[in-house]
Amino acid sequence: MRIDLFEMERMQALYWHRVEYDLSESGVLPLTIRDLLGETQDPEDFVRTKLGYPLSEGSEVTRERIAQWYPGAGAENVTVVNGGSEANHLTLWALLEPGDRFAFMVPNYMQGWGLGRHYVGSTDVFRLKLREGRWILDREELERAVTGQTKVVMVCNPNNPTGHVLTEQEMSAIVDAARKVGAWLVADEIYRGAELDADEASPTFWGRYDKVVITSGLSKAFGMPGLRVGWTVAPREAIEDIWIRHDYTTLSPSMVSDNLAAIAMEPARREWILGRTRGITRAHWPLLDGWLRSHDGLFTYARPVAGAITYAEYDLPVGSRELIDRIREEQSVLLVPGDMFGLGKGIRFGFGFDIEHTMKGLARVDEVLRRMG
Ligand SMILES: Cc1ncc(COP(=O)(O)O)c(C=O)c1O
Repeated sequence: MRIDLFEMERMQALYWHRVEYDLSESGVLPLTIRDLLGETQDPEDFVRTKLGYPLSEGSEVTRERIAQWYPGAGAENVTVVNGGSEANHLTLWALLEPGDRFAFMVPNYMQGWGLGRHYVGSTDVFRLKLREGRWILDREELERAVTGQTKVVMVCNPNNPTGHVLTEQEMSAIVDAARKVGAWLVADEIYRGAELDADEASPTFWGRYDKVVITSGLSKAFGMPGLRVGWTVAPREAIEDIWIRHDYTTLSPSMVSDNLAAIAMEPARREWILGRTRGITRAHWPLLDGWLRSHDGLFTYARPVAGAITYAEYDLPVGSRELIDRIREEQSVLLVPGDMFGLGKGIRFGFGFDIEHTMKGLARVDEVLRRMG
């Protein structure tokens, strides 16, 4: 079966390690195993981990602790997999069948878009739009995209690439649209917990409707992409369907990942990790904001609500791919073009890593912009 190239992932795979300034990352400075263990865990316990197979769904303790982050969920609602990307893939594989329709929020991490086209041939898009400094859900498009044939409605909240968090009214509109036609609602919440202003994680879709699947993991808000831990939280019938497929892909998480995930999701440790992430996003954002503002109205953007990313539309007579290629080729800076999120003239900027280095990269971007201006 045909599958489209996942363009952003391929671009990052090709270039992130070859450029001097990688500003294409969407996470935060990764934790070390030492940071994660903290003062109370004996590193020897970790070193003595027996590298056998863990339980296929993830250990009971890991699943229980993940479930605690989703009010009303229990360990039986959780399965642990290899990254948020495997969680998304197994979920859409389990839920979509030929002839179904798939409604997909854009902009988004475009894995769902590509998988939708793979499994059912097309995706029905509804959008967030940037209006007067805010991202807003286009409810008319939502109404049009979700029809009687829709089997799955998929959103990313907090959103990649905009950092938008859906308002209560927007969440309700999406739940109502799915409920009206009996569709599954799949919410990729991998940036939940990385809020810039709030001290609490943004609300989850879990518990708002009986056909909700949450996909998430430790790669973004938790700063541990190298651990490759993801999960789905779902009604047991959906977990069974996902598990069947997991047996055909990677069988289980790794023993090391499962053990470390249990530590990360212990409630006090979890809040410490998310506090660290929020500290990073809060300290870094004003610098990127200052840089964007210093361009005399060239960029239109909204302050991100969560996540170490923002998306800025620009007013220049050049397409986003061409601009991003130029910036990479001439200045060795990697950014992500709007095209790769289903948008047009815009750029996603990551600000969760070394901010001084990031600012130097942005000074290089200025060189390109100056020559174009
Ligand atoms: C919204 C979203 N979901 C999933 C993923 C993939 O996560 P992982 O690295 O845990 O597979 C990403 C990575 O950028 C993402 O932005």
